Amino acid sequence: MSPPRPGPTPADRPLRPRTAERISATAFILAAACAVVLVFVYARGADTQAEGLLYFGIFIGAGVGLIVWANTLLDDGQHQEAREPMRGEAGDTAAVDAEISRGGEIERRTLLRRTLWLAGGAVGASLAVPIRSLGPSPGKDLLHTSWADGVGVATQDGGLVRADDVPVDGLLTVFPEHDIGAADAQAVIVRVDPAMLHLAPGREVWAPQGIIAFSKLCTHAACPVGLYQASTHQLLCPCHQSAFDVLRAAVPVSGPAAWPLPQLPLTIDAAGIVRATGDFSEPVGPGWWKR
Ligand code: FES
Repeated sequence: MSPPRPGPTPADRPLRPRTAERISATAFILAAACAVVLVFVYARGADTQAEGLLYFGIFIGAGVGLIVWANTLLDDGQHQEAREPMRGEAGDTAAVDAEISRGGEIERRTLLRRTLWLAGGAVGASLAVPIRSLGPSPGKDLLHTSWADGVGVATQDGGLVRADDVPVDGLLTVFPEHDIGAADAQAVIVRVDPAMLHLAPGREVWAPQGIIAFSKLCTHAACPVGLYQASTHQLLCPCHQSAFDVLRAAVPVSGPAAWPLPQLPLTIDAAGIVRATGDFSEPVGPGWWKR
C-alpha cells in the first residue's frame, strides 16, 4: 500500500487563512443580504428581473463562501490516525488549553459557522417566497364539474341536443346547457350500435339508444380528445396519439394515456332531449390528485 499523501501546508494555500475567513464571511453575509432584499421586493409587488438578480446574488454568495472555506480553511489530503495511546501528555493538554484561551483558529471557525447559518437561514426564507405565488388552494373544485342530474346536453351554440341529432359514427362536442364553453365540463358524444357496447357494471343505462358521452379531456395531459375513428370505434387524442375504445368504457388501447376517459351518464327525456343524470364517473383530466 502506498504511503499516505501529505496534505498541503499553509504555504501551499492560495490565500492566507485570515483573508479566506473574511472572504467567506463576506460572501455569506452578501447572500443573506440578497435574501432579505428579495423578501422585501416580493412583498412590495414582485419584480421578476430584480428577483432573478437577487437569487443570483444569493447563490453566488453562498457558493463562493463555501468554496473558499473548503479550499482554504479545511484540511485535505490523506490522513492516518496515529496508533498511539489516545491520552494526551500533560504538556499537550496545557498547550491546547492555551490555544483555546488565546482564540485564533477556534474563533475563526465560529465566525464562519455563524455567517453560514445566517446565509443558510436567509436562503431558506427566500426559497419559501415563491410558495406564496402558488395561489389559493383549489379545494374540491377539481373533483367536480357543472354536470348534474337533469342538465341538458348542449352544443357550442347553446342548442339542446336531441337524440335524433346525434349522428351514427359521428361526434359532437357538448357542454352543460347552463355552462357553455366550460373547459372541464366539455364532453364528446357519439352514437354506436347498442348491441356492440360493453357497458361497465353499474352503467348499463348510461348510454340510451347507443348514445354515449365521455370527457373530452385526455387522461394523459388534458389535450382535447376531438377525433373519432368510426371504423374502430376509437376516440383519438392528437397530442400524443392515445386511443380510447368507445365500446369498452373508453379504456386506453394505445398511446401514453393510462386511464379511461370519465363517462357522462345520459338519459333521453320525453321530448327527445339528451340530458345528464349526474356528473362524470370520476374527475376529469390527468387526475393526478385522485390517485
Ligand atoms: S394528451 Fe392525449 S395522449 Fe397526451
